[in-house]
Amino acid sequence: MSEQQNDQDFFERIANLLNQQREMYGDFEVPRSSSEAAGTEKVVEQVHTDEPTEVSEESSDYEVTESVKELTESEKIAACSTLEELKSVCEQSEVLKTDLPNTNLVFGVGDPAADLMIIGEAPGENEDKQGEPFVGAAGQLLDKILSAINFKRSEVYIANILKHRPPGNRDPKPEERERSLPYLLKQIDIVDPKIILCVGRISATTLLGEDRSLKSMRQRIHKFHDRELMVTYHPAALLRNSQWKRPTWEDVQLLRKRYDQLSNS
Ligand code: URA
Ligand code: URA
Repeated sequence: MSEQQNDQDFFERIANLLNQQREMYGDFEVPRSSSEAAGTEKVVEQVHTDEPTEVSEESSDYEVTESVKELTESEKIAACSTLEELKSVCEQSEVLKTDLPNTNLVFGVGDPAADLMIIGEAPGENEDKQGEPFVGAAGQLLDKILSAINFKRSEVYIANILKHRPPGNRDPKPEERERSLPYLLKQIDIVDPKIILCVGRISATTLLGEDRSLKSMRQRIHKFHDRELMVTYHPAALLRNSQWKRPTWEDVQLLRKRYDQLSNS
């Protein structure tokens, strides 16, 4: 398959997946209170009986599973109502790994109830070592950009499309992005930010499900389920190309303005 066809295929599948998620979770709403959450919690119960256990092949995602049947990844994701629960599902997940062996999970960092969520591409070497997103050179620049618009790193929530480092820092492959997306969508769902900032083209195109240039996506407020999403250059790109610093500055000023409007409404 040509690269272009491969990409086109990927965006079609992502668009389908985003629609499926919307059908599954509604417009990205999750029960927030623990009492509400308790009603939807799913537990696997070992059934201690000599009688054969009936396992319905058609049991839906929403039913409490009362069998020894292993939960599927999407059932495990759907059962999470906190970041801690989702993180432990991610720790067990083989599908989040790349072909680089022995990497650490880089789940996310920051305020678990942040109104602003920043989404990058994938962990690099430093992030893999420390298990935290954006701690290397690009991360230091991200912190400066945030501080220029009066955000502390601890006030926002930061995650990546991929939760494991790809070998040699290559771009995440379409299939890796596709496999990671359900976990990230759930993470967004739980943090419940008012606005998302995608840094770089990989992040933005994966979430928006469309293959477009970074330039065509910046300086606009996109709808993402029932949230807002903005796009700017990746800080690592700014380290290589200083001509993108000025447009990035314009983007994050617009982000701050919109954030303040949303907070006051
Ligand atoms: N680049 C990213 O996209 N994410 C990180 O966590 C670090 C560098
Ligand atoms: N072009 C891209 O595709 N991504 C960037 O982050 C910058 C320029």
